[in-house]
Amino acid sequence: MKINFKSENSNSHITPCLIVPCAESTKPANCAKELDDKLKGAISAAYKEKRFEGKANQTLLLNSLGLVKAQNVLLVGVGKEAEITGEKLRQAAGTAIKIAEKNNFKKVSLVSPNGAGSLDLKGSSNNQDPGTFYYAEGAFLSLYRFDSYKSENSEDTKIGEIIFLADKKDNLQSLKKATDKARKIADATFLARDLSNHPSNTATPTYLADTARKMSRKLGIVCKVLGEKEMKKLGMGSLLGVAKGSDEPPKLIVMEYFKGRNKRNPIAIVGKGVTFDTGGISLKPPANMDEMKMDMSGAAATIGAMQAIASLKLKVDVVGIVPATENMPGGSAIKPGDVLKSMSGKTIEVLNTDAEGRLILADALSYAVRYKPKAIIDLATLTGAVIHALGHHISAVISNNDELVSQLKQSGDATGEKIWQLPLLEEYEKAIKSGIADLKNIAGPGVGAGTITGGAFLKPFIGDYPWAHLDIAGTAWGEGKAYIPKGASGVGVRLLFDLIEKGI
Ligand code: BES
Ligand code: ZN
Ligand code: ZN
Repeated sequence: MKINFKSENSNSHITPCLIVPCAESTKPANCAKELDDKLKGAISAAYKEKRFEGKANQTLLLNSLGLVKAQNVLLVGVGKEAEITGEKLRQAAGTAIKIAEKNNFKKVSLVSPNGAGSLDLKGSSNNQDPGTFYYAEGAFLSLYRFDSYKSENSEDTKIGEIIFLADKKDNLQSLKKATDKARKIADATFLARDLSNHPSNTATPTYLADTARKMSRKLGIVCKVLGEKEMKKLGMGSLLGVAKGSDEPPKLIVMEYFKGRNKRNPIAIVGKGVTFDTGGISLKPPANMDEMKMDMSGAAATIGAMQAIASLKLKVDVVGIVPATENMPGGSAIKPGDVLKSMSGKTIEVLNTDAEGRLILADALSYAVRYKPKAIIDLATLTGAVIHALGHHISAVISNNDELVSQLKQSGDATGEKIWQLPLLEEYEKAIKSGIADLKNIAGPGVGAGTITGGAFLKPFIGDYPWAHLDIAGTAWGEGKAYIPKGASGVGVRLLFDLIEKGI
């Protein structure tokens, strides 16, 4: 897709489709006043007849009948001016792009929400032009398609060019900068979405490792991939235990990006990489089991976030760690009641082989601790229970550090990848103590709080380091919204990038 920039008055700009963001009001706001005059009051008529009032995600497509240079004008609402947020801008841009696509436009021009001079967004410290950044991010994110397995080329139904318009030459530079950043972040999110959308016969642990290696080589990240032998040497009996039921060799993928001042004590990101979760011997029921190809969405977010961080050249120390394996009921698979010895030395009684994410994370977290990290953030599609608790629009966080949670919350609000803290009560830490081993991998009947006990199981493996566990089982996959497609959302990439850019 081509991206171009022009500093030109939108009323004299030649384009098949001019997209104009409008704040909510009772008559055409500043953004569309001049346009309305030229269009002989077509916009004010729409306001009067309440066909369009600038409400969030409302749209109005008008043919200009040659009255302006743009053939068509697509107005998109961003809601009340005083209530405009980054998320509203992302959604408006995404909604408009989808409408343009449905109407077969191959080329669209976007009037920047700041360039229009009508929207005053109180920006974050990180972006010179936050309005344009959020708006462009929404536009790019909504252009995602997963068509790797379609025989027919769908290229001709896609938008091939986006032109960003600046009202003044002076604004062109900041417009380009904001757009470039949004594009790189969207690309990293697309990588994560692709990895989760690929079926498990493509996206194997080896495929994840190869993808991480390729991405790392391009961007100056040091990538190491540990195989079975090395994991055995490290005593990763918990990760290897899960891998035993599968013919696919497991991998531990490590991506080191040390571009900060310290070159040590990195932020560690750890992502669950179960490339298919059958449940193992505790086999899952067949309905919707196909969705378990996305059980590596924590891994996808980790690899995607590393790409975003490195491509935007953040001066930070970060290590991304991905334990990758299938969870299969093979002849050598672990069985309920088996006891595994983890890298930490702690023994684990496996009472349900479907609670495998925590088993592979245990060893990956022990590996992360070797870096003496500033903080550990793990992302995992860990429990179905989180969908009951929070649904598909917000991830759960369980943590031993309130400051880290508050930073994550801020980033969640800024990126639209919202999080909600669940309490890590001592009672639940006790509930995963085993009678015959140090820990058991499920709490057992009557305890409930499945998402919390999942987090409680991980805690013994992180020592005293600041740590946050994100359960993304509800948010990684869904029906989609304005700029998020059906299927994989790529959740976590933008959240982690924002958190690390702002600094922990
Ligand atoms: N991968 C699943 C969790 C999951 C469920 C992810 C739905 C995405 C959508 C996980 O490994 C799992 O099976 N968890 C069990 C835990 C239980 C056995 C304690 C669950 O949630 O049922
Ligand atoms: Zn499972
Ligand atoms: Zn799983």
